[in-house]
Amino acid sequence: MGKVLIMDHPLIQHKIGYIRREETGTKDFRQTISEIAMLICYEATRDLKLDDVKIKTPICETTVKELKGKKMAVVPILRAGLGMVDGMLTLIPAAKVGHIGLYRDPETHEPVEYYCKLPQDCAEREIFVVDPMLATGGSASAAITMLKEKGCKNIHFMCIIAAPEGIERLTKDHPDIDIYVGACDEKLNDHAYIVPGLGDAGDRIFGTE
Ligand code: PRP
Ligand code: URA
Repeated sequence: MGKVLIMDHPLIQHKIGYIRREETGTKDFRQTISEIAMLICYEATRDLKLDDVKIKTPICETTVKELKGKKMAVVPILRAGLGMVDGMLTLIPAAKVGHIGLYRDPETHEPVEYYCKLPQDCAEREIFVVDPMLATGGSASAAITMLKEKGCKNIHFMCIIAAPEGIERLTKDHPDIDIYVGACDEKLNDHAYIVPGLGDAGDRIFGTE
């Protein structure tokens, strides 16, 4: 059974408060999304396994900790997930990056797939799927299904703001994955937008309307 971890770190909460403000412009929004992704990454990688490795310092031999051999991949859900990639790679620079393109149909709110390109050895990697928003959960659930169809087993999902409905859907569809959430909001509105949320994450990152 995977876990759902809602962040309580003051820096994360402060930065999420900043990107919620309607007056926060594209440049600051993008920069802050990246910083939040880095902070959530720090929490989401807490359980990575370590090996003891013997090394020599300039003074003597000693044993140090090193991440176990398992390689990682970051998989943003396009478009908005792209805003979290740099922050993730700041902490795990050797990770490969896959891309899954999904958009929500404006009428049905169902995800529509338009792109999928993953590292060829993704089934052997620890995967971090990133998307700032978990609203109905349809996009995240579909992306994780696509990854499982490619043989991926170790999957984590990271978002900045979630609705309770999205967390419920994702834990029901994929009970095996860990979910890391910056903040859990109140509800969805009639257009399946998160309330209070921050509006359309993709538009705010890329300056589109
Ligand atoms: C947003 C967001 C998620 C999705 C969440 O993407 O980035 O991918 O909606 O909603 P859901 O949980 O109800 O599926 P959007 O479809 O607006 O595409 P974009 O990132 O290209 O703007
Ligand atoms: N996608 C967004 O970008 N924002 C929401 O509130 C819901 C889905």
